Amino acid sequence: MDSERLREKKNVPANPFIYNAPVRGADFYNREAMINKLWKETVTGKTLGNVWITGERQVGKTSLLRYIQSTYEDNNEKVRLYGGRDDYFSVAFVYLNVQDNKSREDFFNNLQQSLKSFFDFKLESREKDAKKNFLNSLDYLHFKKKYYIVFLLDEFDAFIETLAAGDRESASSLLAELNTLTEGSASASKDGVKRFSCIFAANHTPHDLLKEDIIRRIGSGLITQSIKLDWFSHSQVEELAQNYLKDNPVQLTDEEIEFCFKMTQGYPYFVQVLFSIIYEHKAGGAVSKVHFKKIKKEYGEIFAETVKSWGGTYMPKPTLEKLKGLFGKIGKTLGDKALTLLFKGIEEYLKTQIKG
Ligand SMILES: Nc1ncnc2c1ncn2[C@@H]1O[C@H](COP(=O)(O)OP(=O)(O)OP(=O)(O)O)[C@@H](O)[C@H]1O
Ligand SMILES: [Mg+2]
Repeated sequence: MDSERLREKKNVPANPFIYNAPVRGADFYNREAMINKLWKETVTGKTLGNVWITGERQVGKTSLLRYIQSTYEDNNEKVRLYGGRDDYFSVAFVYLNVQDNKSREDFFNNLQQSLKSFFDFKLESREKDAKKNFLNSLDYLHFKKKYYIVFLLDEFDAFIETLAAGDRESASSLLAELNTLTEGSASASKDGVKRFSCIFAANHTPHDLLKEDIIRRIGSGLITQSIKLDWFSHSQVEELAQNYLKDNPVQLTDEEIEFCFKMTQGYPYFVQVLFSIIYEHKAGGAVSKVHFKKIKKEYGEIFAETVKSWGGTYMPKPTLEKLKGLFGKIGKTLGDKALTLLFKGIEEYLKTQIKG
């Protein structure tokens, strides 16, 4: 009997593991502590601050930001902002990806646009100046509608790099401008009232950007709380498998979970890749030693392909470092073919970096 038919007979559900898109809803796992922390930092904590989240490629930045937006979308709870401000506010987390923004103008237009589509309101963009329009919308939402806004700005470093590539000064001054705005002092110059915070998601820390000379040291002082988005721990990897395989006739053994942690060190994307491969094998029948060899081979191939494709397009240095570290730990277990491909990918990447 072929594996497809065997699968039907055993009534095995479709593979629940996901690694080609941000995870949503019930598939989203293990970031509660982070979400609580973000809420505190940006809304109820004394800083009402900005947060800069850094994480490697495919560690879960977009998943996290989108999840926050959708989780709080229907939340009607009104909160008192920190600092003794008397009124109660609703809080709105508004997601936008700024990767393709080319200019300051673009950026403010997009902030404005994201508010309009999130709240579905029709405030005329009366001014020529994108920033003024944005601030008008913000004032309307804050003072009339009693909203405190937290922008979730995905791929923020990519935008800063684009700005800096055109004109280095403009990247630094945008950060400074944003800082003034989030401090409240320049918001339509009313009263120094803070109307919004930002959660930035990026591959690079602000410190990386300074080191790589993308922003200048003095005067670009955007004040943010820095947070690193972690990989999953051993017990979290185990729990993820349990969650995803709840009520599923396919279950993983301790040995398989151990293997997954060893081979991924908890890197979320690779955890899902490897679980997914194991699942496919198990769904088609039992896993013997022979299967295990095949699983390793498939994982090695995907690992190498991934590094190659990230290296070919856009591999942030911090991600490269992490991948090299991971590869150092598991390289021996992966097959020869994968190994060669992988190094080729990294070398090609390094060459383009040196040229650039
Ligand atoms: N909270 C999570 N629960 C389960 N799996 C996750 C979670 N976060 C990330 N993953 C895994 O990592 C993958 C990548 O997630 P996501 O696209 O959110 O990462 P990213 O950091 O935004 O990536 P990129 O750097 O490419 O923008 C997902 O497809 C999934 O396999
Ligand atoms: Mg992303």
